[in-house]
Amino acid sequence: MTSDHWRTIKTLPHISLTQLFAADSDRVASFALEQAGIYFDFCKTHLDQAALQAFQTLADDIGLSAKINALLSGEAVNISEGRAAEHCAERGTGKPASVENARALHQRMKSLIEVISSGALGDFTQIIHLGIGGSALGPKMLHQALALGDEKYELAIVSNIDGAALEPVLERFSADKTLLVIASKTFTTAETLLNAQSVLDWMREQGIADPLGQVVALTASPEQAVTWGVDETRILPFSDTVGGRYSLWSSIGFSVALALGHDRFEDLLAGAAAMDAHFQTAPWDRNIPVIAAFADQYYAQVRGCETRAVFAYDERLGLLPDYLQQLEMESNGKSATLDGEPLALHSSPIIWGGVGTDAQHAVFQLLHQGTHLVPVEFLAVIEPGDSLHPAHHQGLLLNCFAQGAALMTGKNSDDCHRNYPGDRPSATLLLEDLDARTLGALLAFYEHRTFVNAALLNINPFDQFGVELGKQMANALSAEDGNRLDASTEILKQRAFAG
Ligand code: F6P
Repeated sequence: MTSDHWRTIKTLPHISLTQLFAADSDRVASFALEQAGIYFDFCKTHLDQAALQAFQTLADDIGLSAKINALLSGEAVNISEGRAAEHCAERGTGKPASVENARALHQRMKSLIEVISSGALGDFTQIIHLGIGGSALGPKMLHQALALGDEKYELAIVSNIDGAALEPVLERFSADKTLLVIASKTFTTAETLLNAQSVLDWMREQGIADPLGQVVALTASPEQAVTWGVDETRILPFSDTVGGRYSLWSSIGFSVALALGHDRFEDLLAGAAAMDAHFQTAPWDRNIPVIAAFADQYYAQVRGCETRAVFAYDERLGLLPDYLQQLEMESNGKSATLDGEPLALHSSPIIWGGVGTDAQHAVFQLLHQGTHLVPVEFLAVIEPGDSLHPAHHQGLLLNCFAQGAALMTGKNSDDCHRNYPGDRPSATLLLEDLDARTLGALLAFYEHRTFVNAALLNINPFDQFGVELGKQMANALSAEDGNRLDASTEILKQRAFAG
């Protein structure tokens, strides 16, 4: 029974990291895996052979293999919305008809990129990409990670409804050089559509006679985009079965593919496909996303950790923690199981993090000496992203490795203020290079890890009803007929809009 397996896992003995290393001279070889340009070192987690065995038994008991096959063959795994989750079809794994459809849509995107690059639609050198959540975080993170700085197109990705986000872009950009890309799966999202309207108004004010002629729409609701005024030839659809936070592989990646070149977008898909193949075929004890999820569940359920921290020791990956926040927290921040029962386990941890070495001088104090136990994940890249003196990159990587070592070993002192308890876990993902292919594999790793966590928790990672209530209430508050909410909220509204 699943509950018995969880009981076994929860009563696993707490053995310190130092003891685990002392007891197993092969620990480094056995607790590290390599795939698609990523070396995953989980020696410094508290997983040992007994824990791995217990989780593998649980995985078999819940039918993890069948669940993975259901995901990758396009079954309706998103049961609350009655549809499949077909982001993997975008990279070639899935129901044949869906893979074929994704290929055709990618081809359509490639053709439009060629037309735009040829200058046939205008002399564009600037792109404003509007979208929010999954329609912005992925493209933004990808662009920051992969742009070399010598691209033809300047790309600005704006998400917030706060005019302070869009205004500086409009001040900097020239309307006649600007391609407006509206990215919205539903094409109903208030923030994105208001921002789009403001860009069109700005274009008109700047003397553009037909601003809609400079618009491309990326959406799973092409009919909504047509109604909004976008020409059908410049709508790049994607499948409704691709979730927002899983959508950067679809036409949502258009702006990045245009700015960086379609070849690199294809490399991204190829890297993800390599990770998909690994996920589908590797046994549990060699399967990187599965092992990472085992560690996540160990810390969440056995050690009661409520957060997990991700530190990218690479400036180019500065937006990865934000991207992962949405991926993991929107996917697995749930409290009902697939069977409609209250979830008796802890759902997704709170994901937070930042960039090393900056974060060392800001938040690492708590990691080393605070009372919270926080599993940490380090990311670093072997090939430097700069051409300055090698001392920069060496210093960066050495700091990263030193932090993991310091968290684990600690340092005893009679002075309690200077005592480092140690035995604090971390895992390290060491990438050979930060190219599109490796990044694709890395992002697919995170998606599959999120899926395995959901499978172990028996929850649906593919819906997000939790974000709906706030949207409904914002609409209620803005309603002309003065839809009233609670007294406190009404006073806030009155004070803000009194003038
Ligand atoms: O509010 C949550 C959400 O639905 C996300 O899941 C999604 O990525 C984002 O809003 C944007 O939605 P859309 O792409 O439909 O504009």
